[in-house]
Amino acid sequence: MLVPHRNFNLINEIRDSDIFAVTYPKSGTIWMQQILTPIEAKGDVTPNTEHLNAQRVPWIELIGSEKEFNATPSTRLWVTHLQYKFMPLAVRQKRGKVIYVARNPKDVLVSYYHFHKYAAMLEMPKDFNDFFEKFMEGKVFGNCWFEHIKTWYANRDNMNFLYITYEEMIKDLRSMVERMCRFLGKDLTEEQMASVVEHSTLRTMKQNPQANYKTVPDSLLDHKGTFMRKGMHVTPWTIGDWKNHFTVAQSERFDSVFQEKMRDLPLSFTWD
Ligand code: PPS
Repeated sequence: MLVPHRNFNLINEIRDSDIFAVTYPKSGTIWMQQILTPIEAKGDVTPNTEHLNAQRVPWIELIGSEKEFNATPSTRLWVTHLQYKFMPLAVRQKRGKVIYVARNPKDVLVSYYHFHKYAAMLEMPKDFNDFFEKFMEGKVFGNCWFEHIKTWYANRDNMNFLYITYEEMIKDLRSMVERMCRFLGKDLTEEQMASVVEHSTLRTMKQNPQANYKTVPDSLLDHKGTFMRKGMHVTPWTIGDWKNHFTVAQSERFDSVFQEKMRDLPLSFTWD
């Protein structure tokens, strides 16, 4: 769900128990919404089948007011696409915990392109090249991918911060959920852990209407496609779908911008 950025600096009632999953759009937001609730509920997945992800783990951008934000009971689970500079100051002073999920940006671009075609609330791209240019210029909701990851990662020591990638979650979901639990100080039994993991696979999520926006009105998402584009039958494309969309020239241009903008960051990505 995408909305223009607002400034949340003034919200200072951040609790140590607050958990923020931070993503650039199309990098694993709904996946984190799916995982965090049963981690917090010790493996109970009932809330995930009864309530929309965005109700259980809201975007802080969608909270109507500071009063509403403060009134939410603990443990508060949040997601956000906000750029670092717009986050509540207290988060940037080690209050709460932040899990940043990054995805290889070529696949982000492709996923975002398809989401624009799917989401009635977003402008329909003229074609892939048109969207490619907008993404490279950061003229999309969420602004610039490079800026997002650079500022969050460069400021990681100011926060209680865990960095993980979408591709690590694809390759070994169980280990990543374990890593999240260690970071969050949650001690799950074997049975509880298995429940969280089983419930967060693409296969299970595709079958859960609450997990892929089937209940959201057509005026926002026209439902001509599916939110989770890649499902059970095309899993080989879950990483590396960009190869089915990028021209050689686009890929080379992307690589050169990536190398230049990311040269100071010790981050590597799985591209295929
Ligand atoms: S949004 O609109 O910003 O909230 O989108 P976001 O949830 O960040 O990203 C959507 C993409 O994540 C994929 N997804 C998953 N992949 C693998 N396993 C699981 N469990 C899973 N859940 C969500 C979803 O399919 C979107 O990627 P694409 O490439 O478009 O399929």
